[in-house]
Amino acid sequence: MSQLLTIALTKGRILEQTLPLLAAAGIVPAEDINKSRKLVFATNHSDVRLLVLRGSDVPTYVQFGAADIGVSGKDTLMENGADGLYEPLDLQIARCKLVTAALADAPVRKGRIKVATKYVNIAKRYYATQGRQIDVIKLYGAMELAPIMNLADEIVDIVDTGNTLRANGLVEREFIADISSRLIVNKASMKMKHVQIQAIIDAIAQVVGTETATG
Ligand code: PRP
Repeated sequence: MSQLLTIALTKGRILEQTLPLLAAAGIVPAEDINKSRKLVFATNHSDVRLLVLRGSDVPTYVQFGAADIGVSGKDTLMENGADGLYEPLDLQIARCKLVTAALADAPVRKGRIKVATKYVNIAKRYYATQGRQIDVIKLYGAMELAPIMNLADEIVDIVDTGNTLRANGLVEREFIADISSRLIVNKASMKMKHVQIQAIIDAIAQVVGTETATG
């Protein structure tokens, strides 16, 4: 007998790229997620349900076992830590990179600088590895505005096309990490519901063409 399986998805643009991967594993929502304000969705399998969450909340649900499986950006995993979960698969969707950026004409300052970002932990770790001292200013969006308004010297943010940086007169300075969405699995669920979960991992891995590894 199979047990109830809960999968936490990130709402928004990533969802559109996630649903075909789930479909490859035979899991299809029972209704159009985009046309509903619901947060929990039944699927074509009576024992599988989907949660639709803010991306930054997905690892929390999976870490605490409120969801068995999740789809989460590597940036979120790097920022929040990944205790209590496995990251078996790079889904290779929502690909972008994490960088530092500054105004194009700003001099590279040697001493302590101000860095605006929503990635406070990543920024602290990255600049520490570079032996540079920073004051972090936590923002929740529109990081590109901070150097323009002299709130910060640099920002740490994700870049995809580079359009947002260009439109605001900023340039990339340093590369921090490649980012993409990852499949994450609660460690206890991986033991308790191994057959069900491994079947989903294997089916999705076939589509994204990646070797699976637990860890
Ligand atoms: C992200 C990021 C940049 C932009 C980069 O913001 O914070 O602002 O996308 O993309 P680009 O290089 O293609 O211009 P998003 O639109 O996801 O909104 P957010 O402020 O909620 O993060």
